[in-house]
Amino acid sequence: MAILIKNGTLVTMNQEREIIKGDLLVENDRIQSIGKLIPAQEDEVIDAEGQLLLPGLIQTHVHLCQTLFRGMANDLELLDWLNLRIWPLEAAHDEESLYHSALLGIAELLQGGTTTIVDMGTVRHTDAAFYAARESGIRYIGGKCMMDHGENNAGLLAEEIDQSVQESLDLYRRWHETAQGRLRYAFCPRFVPSCSETLLREVAALSSELQAYVHTHASENRSECQLVEEERGMRNIVYLDKLGLCHERTILAHCIHVDREEMGILKERGVHVAHCPSCNMKLSSGIAPVVDYLQQGITVGLGADGAPANDNLSMFQEMRMAALIQKPLHGPTSMPARQIVEMATLNGARTIGLQDEIGSLEVGKKADLVILNPNEYHSCPHQYSDPYGMIVYQLAAGDVKFTMVDGKILFQDGQLLTVDNDLAVRAEKSLQRVVAGAGITL
Ligand code: GUN
Ligand code: FE
Repeated sequence: MAILIKNGTLVTMNQEREIIKGDLLVENDRIQSIGKLIPAQEDEVIDAEGQLLLPGLIQTHVHLCQTLFRGMANDLELLDWLNLRIWPLEAAHDEESLYHSALLGIAELLQGGTTTIVDMGTVRHTDAAFYAARESGIRYIGGKCMMDHGENNAGLLAEEIDQSVQESLDLYRRWHETAQGRLRYAFCPRFVPSCSETLLREVAALSSELQAYVHTHASENRSECQLVEEERGMRNIVYLDKLGLCHERTILAHCIHVDREEMGILKERGVHVAHCPSCNMKLSSGIAPVVDYLQQGITVGLGADGAPANDNLSMFQEMRMAALIQKPLHGPTSMPARQIVEMATLNGARTIGLQDEIGSLEVGKKADLVILNPNEYHSCPHQYSDPYGMIVYQLAAGDVKFTMVDGKILFQDGQLLTVDNDLAVRAEKSLQRVVAGAGITL
């Protein structure tokens, strides 16, 4: 079946960054044509008059397993945030609670125009996150969180190396490139303080052998960096590089406290950075040197991180924050809106090596796209607004009217078509069980 979207303003993000007033035809999972098109009899026609069409937004770092813990870890810095709240809560997940947590996150993401995510899972029950991704229709790259080391409540999640590696490998074989390639597997060691050197070396070997993604956190917080230097005798990114974990399939979340040598490694090795500005401010982690990264040609994507570090999963908030956080440091012309939209689309696609498939509205690419309504009071007037500025500064997640992934409509007219309406109620029940099992006082 073909779907014809008529009379929209297409913010294409193609090579020329063309903005086209016209139509877009989707056939099966791909964009078939763009321009002034005549509907065929069998086409479903969607009227996008007065609305913006944008490539689906790509979040390069989230934790679906934490959506259930939204609002439960405020005013803490990273290591306390993990130790006092997140690790005990993650450790108390059962398969059903993880499924609800993942689906709740995906529901919010699809409603807010995010069509692709890179997800760091939790240690146990990872299949449940893949089930949620498969059913919901979102494009998903993720994997089981690997942890075998660390003090205090890290012990609630730490596993034996063999168990962690074998289960990761089994999950890779079960899920990688399934659902017509919509689901992909990434090896996800949590961060250096949670992983022994042996585990990290095994991940490096696997990612080289399988040409697989590696997703981890790096240099987010000063105490984390200090811990790594004390334990491993060198700076975090130098250490990851020494172990063979810096390459073009590596996605590093945060990279805030990074020196010149480490920046050189990121550039040299083609490592991709996932920037999460709201989380970085909320956990008082710092300001990532994104202006430098972009100047050097390092690919930087955006992400909301986990719900309790934000506490929303809105890419519109991340775009806005990514722009605003740099301006006091680098001046008003730094991080222009177009560059931010590039981060949210093209750079996201590059981060996961899918730049030929997604990230722009171009004929032959996958039909991952969103329609935005700019006519609510909070974004009016916009007659003279530049479309990139509108997206970054005026619009919000609630202005997304339509979300399509792989040619399938997943959100339309306020309705999520792949998620049941009673999800929030079921999720609350799961949360009660998890909190009772976590043994923490909130
Ligand atoms: N570093 C290690 N684990 C985490 C996590 O769950 N969230 C964030 N923001 N940083 C981390
Ligand atoms: Fe994170």
